[in-house]
Amino acid sequence: MADRSPSLTRNPFTAEEKPAVSVAVEHLSKSFGALQVLKDVSFAVEPGEIFVLMGPSGSGKSVLLKHIVGLELPTAGRVMVDSHDASSERTREQIRMALVFQAGALFNSLSVYDNLALYLREHQVANEGGIREKVMRALQILSLENAASKLPAELSGGMKKRVAIARALVMEPQLMLYDEPTSELDPVMGATISEIIATLKDEFHVTTIVVSHDRDLALSIADRVGILMNGQLIHVSPPAALRDPHDPRIDDFLNPQVDLKNPRFKKLEI
Ligand SMILES: Nc1ncnc2c1ncn2[C@@H]1O[C@H](COP(=O)(O)OP(=O)(O)O)[C@@H](O)[C@H]1O
Ligand SMILES: [Mg+2]
Repeated sequence: MADRSPSLTRNPFTAEEKPAVSVAVEHLSKSFGALQVLKDVSFAVEPGEIFVLMGPSGSGKSVLLKHIVGLELPTAGRVMVDSHDASSERTREQIRMALVFQAGALFNSLSVYDNLALYLREHQVANEGGIREKVMRALQILSLENAASKLPAELSGGMKKRVAIARALVMEPQLMLYDEPTSELDPVMGATISEIIATLKDEFHVTTIVVSHDRDLALSIADRVGILMNGQLIHVSPPAALRDPHDPRIDDFLNPQVDLKNPRFKKLEI
């Protein structure tokens, strides 16, 4: 965010009590029936790191994220979060993970305020006064104070994404996962969301995994980038190494060329 207000450093969402966690994906394979979606995927994410996982549609990115939060079970291999198996109930109780879904997954009948308060009320994290403080703080961080009483249907796409992030933030997560946080947004809002992700990581030292095919996001905020193609992790490096990729598969993905001489375009007469 452009204005890094000092209030950020004073807010209650610090990871002091619960430190950032590491994530280790170890030889993870996943099949749905005959379809093998993940093929022996291994990588590790350090506490407080931003790891961006890129890859074409259908390459298995969302399925991989679901394994990290324990929503899918591996066919083979495992995912460890701070040395605990991600698929165990106990891990999910002990480690605070927040997944920001692609579509936001807000409750349409609830106001923005109640969408954020829901988790805190369900888990009886605080009394209503304490909940109010946490909710308003999260809304303030995402510049959404004026949207508290609005319904999701009244919000723009960019605001909905910010509400989804604010809702994850009230959980005071040690691990934040984002699925395509900038898809369907214009480039300016996409850049704003990228900055928010980086700011949250800087201020709260939260381990962050972002799934995206937004090249600008990856190059601007990632500590490291992984590229998943057809279920295989074919590359992991700091983003700078992607500016001049040697692997033609990565080059084609990051720098797609449209051949205007292709007969398909003849009809358009351009
Ligand atoms: N629950 C499921 N059952 C069967 N197939 C699935 C399921 N979830 C995902 N898939 C398939 O796995 C593949 C990878 O999906 P996904 O991880 O959503 O891709 P993306 O990289 O676009 O996020 C797709 O072919 C998808 O149809
Ligand atoms: Mg996906």
